[in-house]
Amino acid sequence: MSDADDGVRLQKVLAGAGVGSRRACEVLIAAGRVEVDGEIVRTMGLRVDPAAAVIKVDGMRITTAEAGLVHLALNKPRGVVSTMSDPEGRPSLADYLGGRKERLFHVGRLDADTEGLILLTNDGELAHRLAHPSYEVFKTYVAEVPGPVAPAVGRQLRDGITLDDGPVHVTSFRVVDRVGARVMVEVVLHEGRKHIVRRLLKEVGHPVHRLVRTHVGTVALGDLRPGKSRPLNREEIAGLYRDVGL
Ligand code: URA
Repeated sequence: MSDADDGVRLQKVLAGAGVGSRRACEVLIAAGRVEVDGEIVRTMGLRVDPAAAVIKVDGMRITTAEAGLVHLALNKPRGVVSTMSDPEGRPSLADYLGGRKERLFHVGRLDADTEGLILLTNDGELAHRLAHPSYEVFKTYVAEVPGPVAPAVGRQLRDGITLDDGPVHVTSFRVVDRVGARVMVEVVLHEGRKHIVRRLLKEVGHPVHRLVRTHVGTVALGDLRPGKSRPLNREEIAGLYRDVGL
């Protein structure tokens, strides 16, 4: 940040990022609700570099157009590998991103057979933290399994079970639907280990027929169609930065 003539006035940067009118942003600054590079700012004249400053309102990160940050949600179709390109020529994530120029990182991986929400960003530190188990970002999956599912299964999964590579427990487990002999269950956990949901459910006697990731943190897949992507909105982006302490 700087008081000199370089940079752009903070209230203008905030307004440009969609926080509110310039006047409303001035009120936020005066109230001590705006932070730049870790410091609360109350002075109106402050100029910042909108491409580089880390700006938060009420502790929530805002991203400016000048920073050139991209945050996308993709509904990965079944059969697509979670890499940006595949040496064996299998369909990969880049095939669904319409030739974007930014260097995008995918946040973690889904099995080729798993569908659903995968986040992509050119903010390498964000991608790294979101995929790292120590930040405990929750992921929600819906799995189609053979029924019936006894109530004891949920208890067993919440209490924790031990797999070949160590113990794991789910944060929540519930039956969401029944289709004939098949049951749809929702599993929430903050694990990133390979095939974790398939292994867990197989271990408790319910091998997965179909697996869809529906949420990463507070970002929801919603009605995004398979193979389609969308930019995350301001609240979703701020939620992800908050979840990993950035
Ligand atoms: N758990 C799995 O088993 N597969 C995935 O793709 C993600 C989580």
